[in-house]
Amino acid sequence: MDYWKRSLTTHKLTKEDKKEIDKILFPIKNHKKVKQMKNYCQHGRISTYDHCCHVAALSYSINKKLHLGGDVRTILTGAMLHDFYLYDWHADDGGTHNWHGYIHAGRALKNAQTYFSIDKKTQEVIRCHMWPLNLFSIPKSREAWIVCAADKWVSLQETLFMRRKKT
Ligand SMILES: [Fe+2]
Ligand SMILES: [Fe+2]
Repeated sequence: MDYWKRSLTTHKLTKEDKKEIDKILFPIKNHKKVKQMKNYCQHGRISTYDHCCHVAALSYSINKKLHLGGDVRTILTGAMLHDFYLYDWHADDGGTHNWHGYIHAGRALKNAQTYFSIDKKTQEVIRCHMWPLNLFSIPKSREAWIVCAADKWVSLQETLFMRRKKT
């Protein structure tokens, strides 16, 4: 899969890991609504779609390497849909995007529930990924903590090292 060539976490994953991730995420990554995330910029030159793929891969890696015992399907599904809000938060929309950090987890959750059948645990992963900015959405499961932490780390890497090239 082309994604693995660009992944920030490729070197930490074995062939079997990648196979397992691809198998679980195949129906989600190929859903036409999820593919729309390719059109939106997340950080620098990274699309929201690629950002979610990075977070999914790193979350999987953290769970495995640290033997945390989180449910792999919950982690991968939650991570892939954690920013499924479907707009470009950099675009000028007259002001509502100023609140993006506070509202997009709720939007992503609503979309995830609309287009997929996801259980309570996966819903929590999406809803709580913006803690501590969303102060009262504290992650309560190990899966939610893993994705929340992976999202912070990936966002930092993308912001620092994958900036848009100057034209
Ligand atoms: Fe987010
Ligand atoms: Fe994110």
